[in-house]
Amino acid sequence: MTAQGHFLSFEGIDGSGKSTQARLLADHLRATGHDVVLTREPGGSPGAEEIRALVLQGDPDRWSAETELLLFTAARRDHMERLIAPSLAAGKIVICDRFADSTRMYQGLSRGDLRGTVDALHDLMIGREPDLTILIDMDPAQGLARAKGRQGAEERFEDFGTDLQAAMRTGFLSLAKEFASRFHVIDGARAVEDVAADVTATVTDYLAS
Ligand code: ADP
Ligand code: TYD
Repeated sequence: MTAQGHFLSFEGIDGSGKSTQARLLADHLRATGHDVVLTREPGGSPGAEEIRALVLQGDPDRWSAETELLLFTAARRDHMERLIAPSLAAGKIVICDRFADSTRMYQGLSRGDLRGTVDALHDLMIGREPDLTILIDMDPAQGLARAKGRQGAEERFEDFGTDLQAAMRTGFLSLAKEFASRFHVIDGARAVEDVAADVTATVTDYLAS
């Protein structure tokens, strides 16, 4: 898939402020004249949103680890085919709230070591990484408290608790080292506007490079 646009992703534990920062970044870029597509995973296309309900609602033991990985990957493939790839080909900036790094963490780590399978499936079915990934890093207890403040049916992974969120934080920080050229780590345990200022500066630098 040839891409002329820019593909940006936000990653981090639940409640770290990804959605808030993705929205603020989209507002900022639109105000400065960019054509922006703000989207999220799992979801982002009608079919992928249907899969989102299958993986995030209902009994947490509904799917085996492998089936769950296939469902997340199927959702991503549809999202890529129908929204991300066409938007990039049209020269737009795509901002995605979570992408394949979340699968490397959640499906790759949380139910045994499936990281090799996650990467193999990604290579086979997706084959594209973001150009820039912003990791909003923060203390898991704080993130969980924020996430729990939201009401809703999508509690699947938030219910894993503080220990798993701590492992996810460590995992995300090692992913940032593994993919150092595209990852930027930003401290999320600050006021919304201070985090947003760092996000804007990082993306502005990237777009100017
Ligand atoms: P995520 O998408 O990473 O789960 P959200 O952006 O949805 O996180 O934020 C989770 C909750 O925390 C929301 O209620 C949001 O309003 C709040 N929040 C986000 N960023 C901050 C911040 N820097 N300080 C305090 N609260 C925040
Ligand atoms: P999201 O709505 O971003 O949750 P939050 O706002 O709490 O961060 O994502 C929903 C959940 O889906 C989240 O707990 C992480 C999980 N997830 C995976 O397990 N694998 C994936 O590939 C993705 C994209 C998300």
